Amino acid sequence: MNDYAPEPQVYILDTGGQYTHLISRKVREQGVYAEVRSSETPLAELKNARGVIISGGPNSVYEPGSPTVDPTLLASEVPVLGICYGQQLIAYLLKGDVRKGDKGEYGFANLDLEADPGVLFTGVKDHQQVWMSHRDTVYHPPADFRVLASTDTCSVAAIGNDATKKYAVQFHPEVVHTHEGRKVLHNFLFDICGCAKDWEPASRIPVVEQSIRDVAGDRNIFFFVSGGVDSTVAYSLCLQALGEHRVHGAYVDTGLMREDETAFVRKIFASLGAEHFRVVDAQMDFLTALEGVTEPERKRAIIGEKFVRIQEEILESGSYLDGHWILGQGTIYPDTIESGGTANADLIKTHHNRVAGIQKLIDENRIVEPLTQFYKDEVRELGRELGLPAEFLDRHPFPGPGLAIRCLCADKDEPCTPTADGIIAPIHSVGVQGDSRSYRPVLIVNHLDHARATEAINADQRVNRVIGEVGHNIPIDRQSVIQSSITPARMDRLRRVDAIVRELSHGSGFDKTVWQFPVVLIPLGGDGLPDSVVLRPVDSVDGMTAQSVSMPEKLLHRMRDALLAVPGIAAVYYDLTHKPPGTIEWE
Ligand code: XMP
Repeated sequence: MNDYAPEPQVYILDTGGQYTHLISRKVREQGVYAEVRSSETPLAELKNARGVIISGGPNSVYEPGSPTVDPTLLASEVPVLGICYGQQLIAYLLKGDVRKGDKGEYGFANLDLEADPGVLFTGVKDHQQVWMSHRDTVYHPPADFRVLASTDTCSVAAIGNDATKKYAVQFHPEVVHTHEGRKVLHNFLFDICGCAKDWEPASRIPVVEQSIRDVAGDRNIFFFVSGGVDSTVAYSLCLQALGEHRVHGAYVDTGLMREDETAFVRKIFASLGAEHFRVVDAQMDFLTALEGVTEPERKRAIIGEKFVRIQEEILESGSYLDGHWILGQGTIYPDTIESGGTANADLIKTHHNRVAGIQKLIDENRIVEPLTQFYKDEVRELGRELGLPAEFLDRHPFPGPGLAIRCLCADKDEPCTPTADGIIAPIHSVGVQGDSRSYRPVLIVNHLDHARATEAINADQRVNRVIGEVGHNIPIDRQSVIQSSITPARMDRLRRVDAIVRELSHGSGFDKTVWQFPVVLIPLGGDGLPDSVVLRPVDSVDGMTAQSVSMPEKLLHRMRDALLAVPGIAAVYYDLTHKPPGTIEWE
């Protein structure tokens, strides 16, 4: 497919930072096609590059084995911008002075520009807020570089050499917290690199459709669709390219979906004119397999195995494995690249399973992935152009295993334990600390103060999550953990509370201000009310890290009242935990 992508004008060299893809997206947002490459890609492979950006990353440049770049890059005529680790790397390779700083600089700072900061900062206002996240520091720039800007803590916050067109910044221009970041990137792209605008996702649709026809030849396409944006947009492109008779799709209803989800998916596919789209009802299959299971990884494994088996059956029963068929998938650009930041990551949660039949199709190169060029927001743009409704395109991400990982279970009845800061409930949830998995109980507090919650979690190693009480039918001292697993009744309860939260947060516009808003059912209750609800609204860029966000009080109270009226609900809580140390989902 990538023969059909434009040739990148700009390459982002990935040194393992979590913002590498964000840089690439921000470049594309300015109408310039960019792609990510691993940092050590030889210059000769960065064909016709008008500019190169070296990303941030977690390593120290002076430590052996840390990511580096082709040394000829810095001697070449190609303009280069280093960001964070990228600045340190340029300084280090060109014999500047880079060391560990006396103290780190994390968060907001104000950028003071030199009297004449040059073309990188043309039109950029002085004393603007920037976002910093570093410990290592450039103390002296390399010879022939001048300092362009500084902050209170960092005397070398930007450097440049106009003659060789090599620039670097210690701050992150790609994040929204750097107010003039867009302008800095704009100056680099257009005034320093001389890029031309060549990228507008929606205008690529005819090219993508032609590529689908080329790959398919006279074969038909089969899709497993999830009801998510990516697979639906990919399906829709294939429908347009080949016509409804040549594209088939199946959606597996696991019984672990949100309220009315299956009906919604049916409606969307009907509106696309998808004739050969069917819903496979596997609800009882999944619920029976999950009976009595409480351990999160076991749940995930069972759901994964079930999926594999059902998908295998569908592939075989439809003879989709014969030579007339290829497989369509909604793989998007970030999925195609193994970023340095996650390549060696510890297993926090199992996400994927691979069906043997699918693997066979992939091995035989019988696969079409129309979206491998695009980022999520670009896929949404394509979807808009294709006429998909906004209520569908703007949906929050939703995990593959569905509500099963938001329905917490317990092996046995167990009491809670009072502590200095609140009450520890022996409900274990997954967390991530220093790239490793944790699985610990939750601390319940009687306030909704994020700063205090963060302090409490740092002070008490027994827990990895803090929730604050929003309201109750049963007071906390009469609540305990109640033995439970996934049952149809609990799934219905979770679906109901989830639907209430979605409706209220959509009605108030709150859903637009958060990245994702899981609603979790926990087996904490008493006096015949077996469960409680946890609200988990978070802000995030890509799910790798996340902040728990506050909600307007009026909305929170409306939610509390509506949730406490649902049969079986003992109390409502608010998850105050950022990621790290908590993950977004509880399991
Ligand atoms: P965590 O809970 O790991 O979630 O902080 C990060 C993001 O990933 C989503 N997630 C999943 N998505 N299959 C998916 O497709 C999964 O098994 C899965 N588990 C978590 C989660 O919803 C969040 O957006």
